[in-house]
Amino acid sequence: MRNLAAVVLAAGKGTRMKSDMPKVLHRVAGHPMLFYPVRLLKKMKVGRVLVVIGHGADDVKKTFQAEGLVFVEQSEQLGTGHAVMCALKELKGFDGDVLILSGDVPLIREETLAALIGLHRAGRKKAALSLVTTVMDDPNGYGRIIRDDSGRITRIVEDKDCSPLQKRITEVNSGIYLAGAGFLHENIRRIGKENAQGEYYLPDLVHLAASEGGRVESLKADEPQEVMGINNRVELARSDKHLRLRVAEALMLSGVTIVDPEATYIEYGAAVGIDTVIYPGARISGNSVIGANCLIEEGSRIESSRIGDRSTVKSYSVIEDSKVGQEVSIGPFAHLRPGNTIGDKARIGNFVEVKKSVVGKGSKANHLTYLGDSFIGEGVNIGAGTITCNYDGVKKYQTTIEDGAFIGSDSQLVAPVRVGKGAYVGSGTTVTKDVPPGALVITRAPEKVVEGWVARKLKGKEKD
Ligand code: UD1
Ligand code: CA
Repeated sequence: MRNLAAVVLAAGKGTRMKSDMPKVLHRVAGHPMLFYPVRLLKKMKVGRVLVVIGHGADDVKKTFQAEGLVFVEQSEQLGTGHAVMCALKELKGFDGDVLILSGDVPLIREETLAALIGLHRAGRKKAALSLVTTVMDDPNGYGRIIRDDSGRITRIVEDKDCSPLQKRITEVNSGIYLAGAGFLHENIRRIGKENAQGEYYLPDLVHLAASEGGRVESLKADEPQEVMGINNRVELARSDKHLRLRVAEALMLSGVTIVDPEATYIEYGAAVGIDTVIYPGARISGNSVIGANCLIEEGSRIESSRIGDRSTVKSYSVIEDSKVGQEVSIGPFAHLRPGNTIGDKARIGNFVEVKKSVVGKGSKANHLTYLGDSFIGEGVNIGAGTITCNYDGVKKYQTTIEDGAFIGSDSQLVAPVRVGKGAYVGSGTTVTKDVPPGALVITRAPEKVVEGWVARKLKGKEKD
């Protein structure tokens, strides 16, 4: 859309968030709230996307530096009208339409923006200004839409400037507008700041357009949540919940069972295959991809990971930055720290921690084990309580366990060390040297049995 530019307002301090962080970086369903309007505009192939930044500008820039945006600095936040004025300097010579969005209205949908554009451009003569409104049960805090007797919008009155009668109006301004660049260039400087907040209000453009006979079009969003603004943390939580439900509903409609969507935290961007069942309290984040026919049990956290088809993540397991194959069983209470590749049909069981390791096809570490910086072949059995001692206090070292090896319970493998193909490590062994393929290694103090020892020890003593 070369005849369309967009301005996203994101310079405000977000005072009501009571935060050290700029408001637009607070997260909604896993992403900074500014991510959503930016993503939509890119999806709609809007030619130029300008983001007005000010408060916390460096942080906002850094977070979105890879997005190909034009950042416009508004050094003093004198109001939304002033913010757009700053952006227009970057649009000299542009004569298409300008879509204006708020960085704190993340739930807006593409369909609504497309409808706004359609409405604005319909008819023989384009509207001067078009905007999205909605009816809210609780309109407090929003600018109210004032219409004349024939239903035409004449102005917007900000909450703080409303008379008691105006306060009762439930149709509100969403902060989403579309206007021709020409109209904006001509009128933006005409906005005054004689109002309760002493700010240049962008909504005053509505009055400027209407009073000069221009057509002001409005599109009512049916679902008020879609245009809900985030000004404080209560609204942040509400938006987060709404967006998560939207994500969950899309997944459910695509064939995923989410037992209790309200109690499941699936961040925007996660993908899940059909017939996978997800139990309450699971959290799936960071663009994780989960295959089909998986079972994700309660309390699991899966972050930036891939999980193959027919795998199970049992209760209270954590999987971070890892790749898990098909038909794998993880947990309960397992922890895959970043950097693992777990092969098909492998089993990582109770209280097993794995870090930067490769676990081959069909290998098992079922109980109470730490595997760090290790390469484990196929069909390996790792007994309960096995520990790879990968750290000597200075550096980390690699442990290699070749195919089919058997590591007896309560063994320590002091890295760097290699256990050859099919070798056996006897229970309780501390392995410090490489074990050849097919060998047995065992370090065990000789067992001593002292017959009758207990009776002799207790002789003449009363047991408590
Ligand atoms: C604004 C609208 C209000 C509307 C509501 C919808 C104005 C004056 N009021 O109110 O009619 O109902 O949004 O959510 O526009 N910003 C800047 N520079 C500034 C001031 C603000 O970039 O100088 C940015 C903020 O970062 C924010 C957006 O503009 O992303 C809206 O500002 P905010 O202060 O949240 O306006 P509201 O009081 O919510
Ligand atoms: Ca707002």
